[in-house]
Amino acid sequence: MDLNHVRLDMHTRLIPIVGFPMDHSSASYVYNYLFQCYEINAVMWPYEIQPEQLAAFLRACDLMHIDRFTLTMPLKTPIIPLLDEVDACSRLFKSVNVVKKVDGRYVGSGFDGKGCMGALQDAGISVAGKRALILGAGSISGIIGYELARLGAGRLSIANRTFEKAYHIAQTLKNHTGICACACTNGVDQLSREAEQADLVIQCSALGMYGFGADYDDLSFLQALPKHVPVMEAIVNPPRTRFLSEAERLGHPIVMGMDMLVSQMQEIFDFWFGIRINEQERSACRRILMQHFGY
Ligand SMILES: NC(=O)c1ccc[n+]([C@@H]2O[C@H](COP(=O)([O-])OP(=O)(O)OC[C@H]3O[C@@H](n4cnc5c(N)ncnc54)[C@H](OP(=O)(O)O)[C@@H]3O)[C@@H](O)[C@H]2O)c1
Repeated sequence: MDLNHVRLDMHTRLIPIVGFPMDHSSASYVYNYLFQCYEINAVMWPYEIQPEQLAAFLRACDLMHIDRFTLTMPLKTPIIPLLDEVDACSRLFKSVNVVKKVDGRYVGSGFDGKGCMGALQDAGISVAGKRALILGAGSISGIIGYELARLGAGRLSIANRTFEKAYHIAQTLKNHTGICACACTNGVDQLSREAEQADLVIQCSALGMYGFGADYDDLSFLQALPKHVPVMEAIVNPPRTRFLSEAERLGHPIVMGMDMLVSQMQEIFDFWFGIRINEQERSACRRILMQHFGY
């Protein structure tokens, strides 16, 4: 990648990606590549910001004319009360990962759900009528559940260490979309029972993420999955978590977290710049990420 598109003048946009911790963040590699492709005079790099620093961060954005940024864990929920406008779905599931300033007002939206659906679609996987099992009930699970419901999934089960969070998401989905949704804990017996009935599994917990320090103790529940059920991972780093490798070893079609990241960039570039990223550039983004991770 060269930086010839960055003119380093008064019109150069700094577009930060903020979260905590950020030392293993890989998204800026592909954003900068896309800025180059579309000759956008902008540059992105990561910053570590804690939730209690968000108000100060927005003041810094005002001062420095930063009018676009993206957020990751753990800022997607605490940013919401600080914004002027958030679409109904992102507010409902408390998940905003992209912000732009329009007429002096901060407008936020969550794109993880659309990114996840785009990655499944690119892999030729339809969700219509499927019984989906979502593992985890963090900031991306509800918004992914919402998109599954919108695209006609038949039923959802949400499994999480903290049952109350899974229950809350399931109830919210039921009330707002009418989908049949239930919640359970993430014990291996419970997961095996859910896996037996699943047509699609989406791993949305942080277990197995690089540097997170915790991973699945027992993946035997994957053996209960019917043959050929697609298995998707949200985690980007590492590209092949133990969870995903085990699903692949058992013969399931897999979808990687980096596909979700690249797919949501299509939506984000549309939101920020009104640009639709083409297929060729999305493939290039995927190659860049694979190279970055040493594949
Ligand atoms: N590919 C992409 O484009 C993309 C986009 C966004 C996020 N992601 C990835 O998706 C993952 C989830 O993101 P998020 O924002 O939803 O995270 P989050 O809000 O922090 O939620 C974390 C989830 O992991 C669970 N968890 C954490 N530690 C656990 C443990 N020791 N045992 C069992 N479960 C545990 C939490 O369960 P509790 O509720 O019990 O705490 C919760 O369900 C992250 O790895 C993130 O990097 C990928």
